Amino acid sequence: MSRKFTQIAFTPAVKAAQEQRGSRETYARFEQNGPENDTVTPEIEDFIAQLDGFYLGTVSSNGYPYIQFRGGSPGFLKVLDRKTLGFADFKGNIQYVTVGNLSENDKAFLFLMDYRHRKRLKIWGRATYVEGDTQLIERLKISGYEAEIERAILFHIEAWNWNCPQHIPIRYSQQEVDAMQARIAELEQLLANTNQLS
Ligand SMILES: Cc1cc2nc3c(=O)[nH]c(=O)nc-3n(C[C@H](O)[C@H](O)[C@H](O)COP(=O)(O)O)c2cc1C
Repeated sequence: MSRKFTQIAFTPAVKAAQEQRGSRETYARFEQNGPENDTVTPEIEDFIAQLDGFYLGTVSSNGYPYIQFRGGSPGFLKVLDRKTLGFADFKGNIQYVTVGNLSENDKAFLFLMDYRHRKRLKIWGRATYVEGDTQLIERLKISGYEAEIERAILFHIEAWNWNCPQHIPIRYSQQEVDAMQARIAELEQLLANTNQLS
């Protein structure tokens, strides 16, 4: 079974670069092997559920790529079905670069990075934005998170590919650091109490 991400990412120029540098044969075999990679697996669903941010890439009409970071509470990127992800798009700096790009080219890219567990996932697909659909917004909203929601963005998955963890620095979220500091304080108190007793 052909791997879908290679059909998108391995353009003739990419294949020529692989050929020139000696990796084409390996990747030609890779294209023929392995499972389908265009639907959400249980591993991907779990990975997405704990993400508190991701990078969304779109294409400008002048050919430049454009990447914007989106942050929120863990789970704000939602799996709507096996081929569709969605998130509530917050009001920002009102440049509307992503929305403008998507209005004329729906090709998009998600770069999902979990620094804590050194895992990253690339997803190619098509993105659309939906304005004024209160039911959809309600479905994507995370209660308790302070942000003005302007629209929904839906991402239709065409292909995904896990990357190896190499060179990913380990980073902890503020929430994780807070939990660790609270635990340290607790243990220090316990130690102080024990020392007083002895
Ligand atoms: C007051 C405010 C100022 C912001 N300034 C910037 C900025 O200078 N650069 C940036 O990349 N994002 C900035 N952001 C975040 C973006 O506005 C936000 O991610 C938005 O979705 C960007 O969409 P766009 O990049 O598609 O235009 C800002 C957000 C707010 C609320």
